[in-house]
Amino acid sequence: MSSASKKRKSDEEDTPEEEEGRTEKKKSKKDKKKKEKHFWKGWPTKLIRKVTLVNEAEDRLPVHTLTFEIPTPATSSSSTTTSEDKMIPHTSVCMELGDVVKMVIPGYKPKSYSMCRKTDQEFDLTLKVYPDGRASGYLDRLAVGDTVGSFGLRKNKQHNPGAFVGIICFGVGITEGLPVARAQLALEDGTTKVVLLWASRTTADTFWKDSIQQLQEQYPNKFQMVHILSREEKEECLHGRINPQILGQVFRPDDKAQARFVSVGTKEMMKQTDQMLLQLGYTFPQNLLLPKQQEETKEGGKQEEED
Ligand SMILES: Cc1cc2nc3c(=O)[nH]c(=O)nc-3n(C[C@H](O)[C@H](O)[C@H](O)COP(=O)(O)OP(=O)(O)OC[C@H]3O[C@@H](n4cnc5c(N)ncnc54)[C@H](O)[C@@H]3O)c2cc1C
Ligand SMILES: NC(=O)c1ccc[n+]([C@@H]2O[C@H](COP(=O)([O-])OP(=O)(O)OC[C@H]3O[C@@H](n4cnc5c(N)ncnc54)[C@H](OP(=O)(O)O)[C@@H]3O)[C@@H](O)[C@H]2O)c1
Repeated sequence: MSSASKKRKSDEEDTPEEEEGRTEKKKSKKDKKKKEKHFWKGWPTKLIRKVTLVNEAEDRLPVHTLTFEIPTPATSSSSTTTSEDKMIPHTSVCMELGDVVKMVIPGYKPKSYSMCRKTDQEFDLTLKVYPDGRASGYLDRLAVGDTVGSFGLRKNKQHNPGAFVGIICFGVGITEGLPVARAQLALEDGTTKVVLLWASRTTADTFWKDSIQQLQEQYPNKFQMVHILSREEKEECLHGRINPQILGQVFRPDDKAQARFVSVGTKEMMKQTDQMLLQLGYTFPQNLLLPKQQEETKEGGKQEEED
């Protein structure tokens, strides 16, 4: 294109008609988002059991496991939207690939939870209840027999096998980390070592002791569990917050190129962990266990991470 025609094109883009067109486009995007929001109601999902794993105390938040009946998804008649593409039945949720369940909180929005157990009939979510937590508080107030909208969401991650797998979990992030460890241990894909580092405030904030012990007994050479406590000193546990020195000490692959990592926590926790791993000489996506597949939205832009 000549510079003159380039100039003409940019002049043309500034006409009121063009501007109006762009406004229309924006409006239709907004309408589409509204439609998607409406669509994201999920399927009515019944709470059938509630078990407390960590009791509330002055300095400790409670953790419960909620068991829900798997709903039978109705065949959707809605138009094809980005959300619909990623919305999946609960039975298709792949815990080991980081898929999540979206719990539709009335008057708020669908919030992510990691499915930590699934059978043909039911699934478990394990959640920490935060003070004034809009989503966790609502779910905590559900009584057995109540229903809430929910659906599965594909996170479009892929499995990147390697000889050494390091899993870093912050607090209730173990809900995703332990199922990933369990699946990785069961896979015959050449992995020789799986090390799970779990950062908790105190021992009393931890749970799933029996499941962890069972994995240790089943895979005595392949699986290693390391606890780090920030607010308690205990002989067999590391002490403090996770830092690069701790990561270097806990994760010692024979060949760094063969190491695969996944971290689970808040965005900030995961970002900080990524920075630490980069400092230690690991590279992304090569050293990631579950890198995200590159995908484009229908509008051509990258999809955003949901919460
Ligand atoms: C992919 C994914 C999977 C998830 N899986 C699980 C899961 O399996 N189990 C689970 O419990 N949660 C999980 N979460 C977190 C969950 O989605 C909610 O963010 C969480 O329940 C808090 O939401 P809320 O609305 O109750 O709290 P908000 O209303 O957002 O916050 C309430 C108060 O709690 C504080 N708060 C929130 N988070 C923290 C924190 N980590 N530490 C200290 N204060 C905090 C806030 O600052 C605020 O003051 C997951 C998140 C993602 C992105
Ligand atoms: N797939 C996912 O993305 C997924 C799945 C499940 C859960 N989650 C998220 O995981 C989060 C876990 O929170 P939690 O309340 O259970 O954790 P928490 O109890 O507050 O903290 C767990 C440990 O992490 C330390 N810590 C806190 N913030 C840190 C930071 N920025 N950098 C390094 N260490 C930090 C704490 O140290 P101190 O004692 O010093 O604070 C503590 O030792 C939840 O908010 C949940 O949203 C995400």
